[in-house]
Amino acid sequence: MVLKWFYVVISLSVITTFCVLTLLCPTHVRTIILRSREISMNVVNTSFVAGRVRYALPAVADPTNRPLRIVYWSNRDIWEFGTVRHTRTCRGKYQCEFILDRSQYFRGDVILVDVHRLRFFGGLPRFRFPHQKWAFFMIESPRRMFTKLKPYEAAMFNFSITYKTTSDLPHPYGKCRRLLPGEPRPPVKNRAFNKTDVAAWFISNCADKDSGRIRYSQELQRYVSLHIYGRCGTYSCTKTEGNYCYEEMLQKRYKFYMSFENSFCDEYITEKLYGVISLDIVPVVLGGGNYSAFLPPHSFIDIRNFASAKELALYLKKLDENDDLYNEYFAWKQDYECGVYLEQFSCDLCAYAHEHRTQKQTIDTIFDFWTEDDCTSVQDFYRGHF
Ligand SMILES: *[C@@H]1O[C@H](CO)[C@@H](O)[C@H](O)[C@H]1NC(C)=O
Ligand SMILES: *[C@@H]1O[C@H](CO)[C@@H](O)[C@H](O)[C@H]1NC(C)=O
Ligand SMILES: *[C@@H]1O[C@H](CO)[C@@H](O)[C@H](O)[C@H]1NC(C)=O
Ligand SMILES: *[C@@H]1O[C@H](CO)[C@@H](O)[C@H](O)[C@H]1NC(C)=O
Repeated sequence: MVLKWFYVVISLSVITTFCVLTLLCPTHVRTIILRSREISMNVVNTSFVAGRVRYALPAVADPTNRPLRIVYWSNRDIWEFGTVRHTRTCRGKYQCEFILDRSQYFRGDVILVDVHRLRFFGGLPRFRFPHQKWAFFMIESPRRMFTKLKPYEAAMFNFSITYKTTSDLPHPYGKCRRLLPGEPRPPVKNRAFNKTDVAAWFISNCADKDSGRIRYSQELQRYVSLHIYGRCGTYSCTKTEGNYCYEEMLQKRYKFYMSFENSFCDEYITEKLYGVISLDIVPVVLGGGNYSAFLPPHSFIDIRNFASAKELALYLKKLDENDDLYNEYFAWKQDYECGVYLEQFSCDLCAYAHEHRTQKQTIDTIFDFWTEDDCTSVQDFYRGHF
């Protein structure tokens, strides 16, 4: 009896294999056979234990159009980059499922490794599925990278996502673009109108080792009024409704905002700038990036263009007393628009994953790309500007 069934199964498979290979069987038969093969691959259930987590091996079947799964390997259970939850269709054709739960690691096609926080939750995954692509995801600067990757860990990544334009998938903090003809422009008006104070700065991290920005601001304060909000200063804005501190308080009251970075590295221009540049306030920038390469002309004031904090302070006072000169810093708003880059990121990542799904790539060592050689020391930065 058993033997008889054996022969039936064997001959059936020979027939069906033949008809699939030669494409001679009727379409509906082929579909059924292919589908059953896919299902049989899906039920493979080998599991293994890595650390304290048990993983099941994922389905091998990979029909080209199924949604890609992106697992955020982080101790955050929020997606910081926009409001995505679960599955989303991007650009009308790409589907991705965003998974914020590390224990779902085995389901991921792309593992978005939050390298900055790795040290808080036990490091990289301990097992790697051959089809998975690991992304080196980092938007802090190399100077402020506190996770120490071992050399073999630095060879684990397939692509990079950082604020650097040379990343496989660049993730800038913000973007500017030229307005198209016919797009609405903001009204031309006196943006100094009714402002009562000169300069403000919101800052919460008072460590000064990698930037000297607090010492610099204290030097500025000797010559011009600068209100420092937060833990490192004497002012506070605690109202949380909407975006009160920025939209109601900051831009209505002050003329200048200190967009001071925590370290000086090439292209490291953060939300400290992009979070305010769309407001009615002029950013004073202190950082290692080439701001002219990213921002519209005459949209910011760079401390590196002044021989000292005193000279910068005198310039701010001059603008404070001359509304025409001050308003020249807003002329660019007739031609450009700038803002933070958050919401688009998940879809850019989804599109990247789809467009590169068959591409093979290994980064031999991320340290060639991710290096403190991009950064300037505090002493070198201020040479001639303090
Ligand atoms: C796979 O195996 C695990 C552990 O033995 C079990 O808990 C799980 O239900 C199995 N899954 C399937 C789809 O059979
Ligand atoms: C000018 O500022 C004051 C207080 O800052 C505010 O009460 C007043 O409404 C403002 N006037 C206009 C026209 O915006
Ligand atoms: C900064 O960018 C501008 C505009 O792209 C460029 O002309 C200039 O040479 C750059 N400066 C440096 C130091 O790279
Ligand atoms: C990703 O990188 C790993 C090792 O760094 C490599 O073994 C694997 O083949 C790469 N995967 C792809 C799809 O390129």
